[in-house]
Amino acid sequence: MNKKNLKVSIVMGSQSDFKTMKLAKQILKKLKVPMETKIISAHRTPMRMYKYASDAEKNNIGVIIAGAGGSAHLPGMIAALTQIPVLGVPIESKKLKGLDSLLSIAQMPKGIPVGTLAIGEDGAINAAILAASIISNNNPLVRSKLKSWRISQTKSVRKNPK
Ligand code: RP5
Repeated sequence: MNKKNLKVSIVMGSQSDFKTMKLAKQILKKLKVPMETKIISAHRTPMRMYKYASDAEKNNIGVIIAGAGGSAHLPGMIAALTQIPVLGVPIESKKLKGLDSLLSIAQMPKGIPVGTLAIGEDGAINAAILAASIISNNNPLVRSKLKSWRISQTKSVRKNPK
């Protein structure tokens, strides 16, 4: 495996999740992180999920970002099938505003961890930054992009309100 060019794989349970997960894609693009995006549903396409997770290492994936809403079992199921780190993004659901997704993803029983981010857009953005940070351990370009990105974020905060 070429450890220097590991990619981040963004997966989501439904096309409807993409309005949230596209923010993760945008951040990774800005940070020059190699990536891919896929729709994989744990309950509607279980065999697709199985094949994806079983082949993830062979496919040079270094971090998986998995967005799911409702019972949100996708991140945990993928984590059960691969050792690659999985970051879960709880999608804001219609009925329970994403609290269902958050609890489902965060409350993984011991043994199979899923790193859980905030509900919705903040979670998608932070998952991408965290994934970039993990990838940057073996990718100098991403490390320098991340550094400049943080500096410009700091500079963008005014000292005084107007
Ligand atoms: C989950 O069900 C998906 O992750 C999505 O958040 C939710 C609703 O999916 P759709 O009914 O919009 O396809 O599997």
